[in-house]
Amino acid sequence: MFRGKSEMKSKYVDLKTKKDWKLLEEPIQAIQQGELVIFPTETVYGVGANCFDEQAVEKIYKAKGRKSDNPLIVHIANFEMLSQVATNISEIEMKLMKAFCPGPFTIILPKQENIAKAVTMLDTVGVRMPSNEIAIKLIEGAGVPIAAPSANISGKPSGTRVEDIKEELGDKVACIIDAGMVDIGLESTVVRVIEDKVKILRPGKITKEEMEKVVGKGNVLIDEHVLEETKTDEPVLSPGMKYRHYAPETKCALVYGKEENVIKKIQEIGREKEILVICKNRNKDKYNTEDMITMGDTLEEIAHNIFRILREVDKYQKEIVLIEGVEKEGLGLAIYNRLLRACEFHIINC
Ligand code: TXA
Ligand code: MG
Repeated sequence: MFRGKSEMKSKYVDLKTKKDWKLLEEPIQAIQQGELVIFPTETVYGVGANCFDEQAVEKIYKAKGRKSDNPLIVHIANFEMLSQVATNISEIEMKLMKAFCPGPFTIILPKQENIAKAVTMLDTVGVRMPSNEIAIKLIEGAGVPIAAPSANISGKPSGTRVEDIKEELGDKVACIIDAGMVDIGLESTVVRVIEDKVKILRPGKITKEEMEKVVGKGNVLIDEHVLEETKTDEPVLSPGMKYRHYAPETKCALVYGKEENVIKKIQEIGREKEILVICKNRNKDKYNTEDMITMGDTLEEIAHNIFRILREVDKYQKEIVLIEGVEKEGLGLAIYNRLLRACEFHIINC
């Protein structure tokens, strides 16, 4: 029923307001039949397939235009599913999982051999147990762990609402489950335990500080590539780090420093160039321009809005987009990490 060529018409499933789980029957069947489903998680939307079905997983790479050496995260519904995808889990890895699963947390573990090769060409697999109720019901219903990257064409900001995703991927999947805007808005924290130290490969909602409470201060490290550009041939712990990410067509710059300096700097550049300003709500009256998008005030609000905003900037057709920086602590580290990439590491320190 879902077979078809590129003009596949996807089934739209509306779970924005009502919790009618019967509506999940079609997406569940689609997963079981080797098709792709776009589904919500608490972080961003995912585009998923049965992680044991080689051909189904390959469709994900094709739909996204994703490089085959960039592995996928496997999503499980409960701890019973864990042994289907990973093996040889250490005490500290289990301690982290018990603390942060279900939730916006991905841990790199030794992989179970029967997962599709297309999921990961490494000997490890990223495992995540989402807390979103729809995601859990979909995985439980399908009866298999679901391999899923963020729902977006490779390089674009991750999809946080169906309006943004359906143009990019709508005709490449069997079903789209719409649950409205996601909660968090940034992808999960990705970690790997190496010699009993927790290494953050991608910062997210679960912060360094929260993990330190579980494994002790000094035992959580931030991988150097979180805040630095990766050289083309450099070996990296997480292949996703080496690819261009989130950057709009318009050139963007991250303006970072004390808030008053940031404001002054943006005002100054605005006198010379055609700019679009992305700023905190509290600063919106500081700039003498209509060409502005506000991103909220708290880190939670900024995380929630930033990917949607990055998708909007090109339509302003400006010379440069100037984005107010955020602190690098707590959830701020995750936002800063995404903004750096959106700006292709173009930072104006002031
Ligand atoms: O919140 C999320 O994590 C979302 C939702 C859908 O769950 N998923 C997501 O997946 O962001 P994706 O594929 O867009 O990002 C996964 C990142 C990539 O940078 C990838 O390189 C890295 O995790 N990764 C996956 N498996 C890995 C592995 N075995 N070793 C190292 N890094 C891995
Ligand atoms: Mg992604």
